[in-house]
Amino acid sequence: MEVRLIGDPVLRNKTEEIKNYDDKFRELIEEMYAEMYKSDGVGLAAPQAGMPYKFFVMDDGENKRAVINPIIKTFSEEKIIFEEGCLSIPEIFAEIERPRTITVEYFNENGEKIEEELTDYSARVFQHEFDHLNGILFTDKLSVVAKQRIKKKLMELIKQGKKQGKELGDIHL
Ligand code: CO
Repeated sequence: MEVRLIGDPVLRNKTEEIKNYDDKFRELIEEMYAEMYKSDGVGLAAPQAGMPYKFFVMDDGENKRAVINPIIKTFSEEKIIFEEGCLSIPEIFAEIERPRTITVEYFNENGEKIEEELTDYSARVFQHEFDHLNGILFTDKLSVVAKQRIKKKLMELIKQGKKQGKELGDIHL
């Protein structure tokens, strides 16, 4: 498993729903966790592993979750600013504003439906990873001025990511 960088088209692809919760899929989830922990990340979405599908893994420090076919049902009006990074955009960090609390619905790795309310850090990680399933990266949310500041580094990464995407292609389940 190789983490794809910004510039790799798979990060912008439309994602498909997961239909089979079998042992092969659960093995894949374990690989995703391993890759996430190895990279010191708190979340990893399938497109970042080259797979255009609707699932991600996350660990907010209290709970680890495999999140499959998720929806965000409600967003709080209250928003908070928090610094974000992304394994697909290494060494770039920026403050991003997002709703503080969300209610979500998803399936776990065994195909069981989970409904929960998340707040603060867990809500933050969930929203960041959820964005990946819609081809959205946190740098898309930056102001023109903030983007200008990281432009050079970003352009280098995009070049690398494009090349990597061409070499590795998409992985289909
Ligand atoms: Co990310």
